[in-house]
Amino acid sequence: MPNLLHISASIQGDTSVSRSLSTALAHALGKKSGGDIIERDLSANDLPLIDGARFAANGTAPEDRTDAQSELAAIADTLISELQQADTIVLGVPIYNFGAPASLKVWADLVARAGTTFKYTPEGPVGLLTGKKAYITVASGGTRVDSDTDFMTPWLRHFLGFIGITDVEVIEASALMAGDADEKVSAAKARIEALVS
Ligand SMILES: Cc1cc2nc3c(=O)[nH]c(=O)nc-3n(C[C@H](O)[C@H](O)[C@H](O)COP(=O)(O)O)c2cc1C
Repeated sequence: MPNLLHISASIQGDTSVSRSLSTALAHALGKKSGGDIIERDLSANDLPLIDGARFAANGTAPEDRTDAQSELAAIADTLISELQQADTIVLGVPIYNFGAPASLKVWADLVARAGTTFKYTPEGPVGLLTGKKAYITVASGGTRVDSDTDFMTPWLRHFLGFIGITDVEVIEASALMAGDADEKVSAAKARIEALVS
């Protein structure tokens, strides 16, 4: 049965636009496929910032880790396993200060593991999490998605590609404070309905 990983990052709880869109999409896709949905809400801010010791532990093969390193690498092991188990990844992400929420950057720092999610080659890095499909639902106040000042969407697309997830679709409700917010959210919902029908 295909599994789905739903990652959300907004700090706005139930009033979040990006989360309401990603939840609707994740549930509709999950219902259609009949697979499990793994939930990862990054707004809990319970992921540790990467530091030197954790980075070294993450890069050490499990059989070579000390007990302390196994403990340090455990959270990254879990996050990577969530990605590996998923056929589809739905990410609900707001734009914060023109970029990604800090919690999503923390997540990326933990799941980027050489030899597991990507590998180095003489031709450059190659992503190892292939054969997956990702959807990103984006919300913002004033920054239009893929405009010159949107550093979130291109970064996230690039990062997912870096770990092998190259089939990425973006559904956006951006620049909501610039007007027509209801229409923009309705258009995004209609796009989701069309995607799952
Ligand atoms: C800390 C913070 C920083 C923000 N920075 C931006 C920004 O740079 N550009 C923008 O368009 N909106 C910005 N916003 C507004 C949010 O992107 C907007 O409220 C959006 O709806 C948030 O997504 P959500 O509804 O899923 O929480 C910011 C909001 C917060 C809380």
